[in-house]
Amino acid sequence: MTISAPKELLELSRMAVPRYTSYPTAPHFSSDVSSTTYSKWLRATRDAGEPISLYLHVPFCQELCSYCGCSTKATRRQEPVRAYAAVLHQEIELLHRELGRISVKHIHWGGGTPNILPKDVFSALLDDLKSRFVFTDDMEHAIELDPRFLTADGAQHLAGCGVTRVSLGIQTLDPKVQRAITRVQPLERVEAAFKALRAAGIRQINADLMYGLPFQSETSIEDTMREVARLRPDRLAVFGYAHVPWMKKHQTLFCEADLPDAAARLAQARLARKLLVAAGYDEIGIDHFAVPEDELSQAAKAGTLRRNFQGYTTDTAETLVGIGASSISKTASGYAQNAPDVRGWQRMVEAGELPIARGRLLENDDVLRSSVIEDILCSFRVNLAQSELQEAGIDGTDPILVERLAPLADKGWVEVTRDGVEIRQHPYEIARIVASAFDAYLGTGGRHSSAV
Ligand SMILES: C[S@@+](CC[C@H](N)C(=O)[O-])C[C@H]1O[C@@H](n2cnc3c(N)ncnc32)[C@H](O)[C@@H]1O
Ligand code: SF4
Repeated sequence: MTISAPKELLELSRMAVPRYTSYPTAPHFSSDVSSTTYSKWLRATRDAGEPISLYLHVPFCQELCSYCGCSTKATRRQEPVRAYAAVLHQEIELLHRELGRISVKHIHWGGGTPNILPKDVFSALLDDLKSRFVFTDDMEHAIELDPRFLTADGAQHLAGCGVTRVSLGIQTLDPKVQRAITRVQPLERVEAAFKALRAAGIRQINADLMYGLPFQSETSIEDTMREVARLRPDRLAVFGYAHVPWMKKHQTLFCEADLPDAAARLAQARLARKLLVAAGYDEIGIDHFAVPEDELSQAAKAGTLRRNFQGYTTDTAETLVGIGASSISKTASGYAQNAPDVRGWQRMVEAGELPIARGRLLENDDVLRSSVIEDILCSFRVNLAQSELQEAGIDGTDPILVERLAPLADKGWVEVTRDGVEIRQHPYEIARIVASAFDAYLGTGGRHSSAV
């Protein structure tokens, strides 16, 4: 099956634009935000009394995949993982001092590979969190797992710890592509992971898939989508491989000639979408899919879908507290990022300091543009007839916005009026470009991966 795309869409898909998991984006963070600033923000969060979300970063994997863009490193030994967890406990204590016994409505363990944590280490961290914070009865407890290292016993343990949702890294089931990305993961292994989780009572399963990987073809996309749809995860994320060798040196191992070109990437993305929709999945935002009865589908239909550092979510908490090296926190006042390297993070935590390296105070204009960009990426339209937006000059008559959107408006792909912007055609491919039209810092924040 071949999915062709209009030539103009192909040209646009090559544009390098941010992913907007935050606005302003991370290149605009600076050392103006310090531990002292973040402490004030956390105390304001505590005073507001609203439940928060927690993100715990585990920057270790058993092996490194050559495409990986995450903040992680490989280890086969338990010692660095246990040492890292000991510092996480100290960071949790520091946060408790600022936040008191605040309620938590969402926990997300990401990485790296959180299932590298030995069972006793994971349980102890969770007990620590439980003893210092109040978990709400409906708390979502999610974790990213590498299926190659998930055992039936490991799945039982996670279920016993109250984990409610799991994300499995699958990427591709094509053996040739798997060899090229140094991630050999037979279908039987993936199937065993689904079985183990379901047998343990964890029914909410997400699958991460990718296109644009070396040697990936439409045939291999078709085979992977068919098999994965048969396993019936509730949610899927289908990410375009972000080739950023200037940031991730190990990606230079790929021979660029083996990577699908822009036309092939676009065709793969469109084919994956078509197959998942035909398999009964609803389309969520630009790169997620969910079964119609899933909360994410319901949120998308109700217009309450959100987007944060982990992608699309139903999490509505205003404050997300990141724990662990490189984690990013968000409060009503701004973003704060922990020291990116484990040593630097550890030094600060051991000195009794919140381990903040940089961040971004949010001005009123940032808050407004952030919400506009989130609306576009969640529902492909934004209502600009809101007094606070119009007072700030963020409306469809803004000459910069009009100029940036003109090429899309001329084709009829986007409708721009004073009171709103709506994407009429090719929303999945152009939403990041339309969002970027509202970005007051566009072009000043370093290099990005392509729009598709
Ligand atoms: C932390 S990993 C998931 C858990 C576990 N480490 C694993 O790989 O099974 C997060 C996801 O990010 C995606 N990812 C990693 N590197 C990427 C890249 N360069 N471009 C696009 N997506 C990427 C993959 O789909 C991966 O599953
Ligand atoms: S994709 Fe997952 S397992 Fe592979 S290196 Fe990245 S974080 Fe580790």
